[in-house]
Amino acid sequence: MLLHLDASARRNSFSRLLSAEYADAWRAAHPGAGYVYRDLAARPVPHIGEAWTELCDHILEHEITDPARYPEAARTPARRAAWAIVEPLLAEVVAADVVLIGTPMYNYSIPSSLKAWLDQITFPKMSLAGRSFVVTGARGGAYGPGSPREPYDHEERYLRDFLKGHFQVEDVTFVHAELVNARLDPALAHLRERHEESLAAALAQVRAQAREEAASEEAAS
Ligand SMILES: Cc1cc2nc3c(=O)[nH]c(=O)nc-3n(C[C@H](O)[C@H](O)[C@H](O)COP(=O)(O)O)c2cc1C
Repeated sequence: MLLHLDASARRNSFSRLLSAEYADAWRAAHPGAGYVYRDLAARPVPHIGEAWTELCDHILEHEITDPARYPEAARTPARRAAWAIVEPLLAEVVAADVVLIGTPMYNYSIPSSLKAWLDQITFPKMSLAGRSFVVTGARGGAYGPGSPREPYDHEERYLRDFLKGHFQVEDVTFVHAELVNARLDPALAHLRERHEESLAAALAQVRAQAREEAASEEAAS
């Protein structure tokens, strides 16, 4: 199953363009497989509240590592209400083979819409090992290897560290369209061509990535 998330506040968005391209190619290669789509910007998930932290504390204290046992923690009306928000989000990510995240860089990091989703679905000592994550991103500037802004990329760095460090997910691919601001900012007009190249390369990469995954799954089956 492919779980496809988008997080850009814009509808006409490059991270959405890239994630849609990946999803189309993946779905064409996996005609029978499930597909779930969530627009985290248009239909935001709420921030976690106090009852959510009580669920989390119970799970930690009782050493519950299997998400199937999390409902045991929903022991009060407030916790049951918190669990009712978590349950479908968690079920989707647990059922996914591939989690596709279309996300902009906002203020050197991920948008709060995506962070709210991550906060909802993350519990102590929870593993998502075995799943693949594909992140299609768009950013106004350039943060690639060797660029002056590379150290400021807390978007890819954060997602990579968190997925590996907390969820033991090793298979994470990032594809970025860079220098998007060159389309708008007259001071960056000279970088427009580099932006177009970055976008074309990102589109080619997402299509190739989806085809590659389909081929390696076929070889394994
Ligand atoms: C709230 C906000 C914050 C942004 N912060 C950054 C930033 O820190 N670095 C950057 O390179 N671009 C930044 N940008 C530019 C976006 O990353 C760029 O417009 C990108 O294309 C957004 O993705 P989208 O096309 O999927 O909406 C920001 C844009 C917005 C709206």
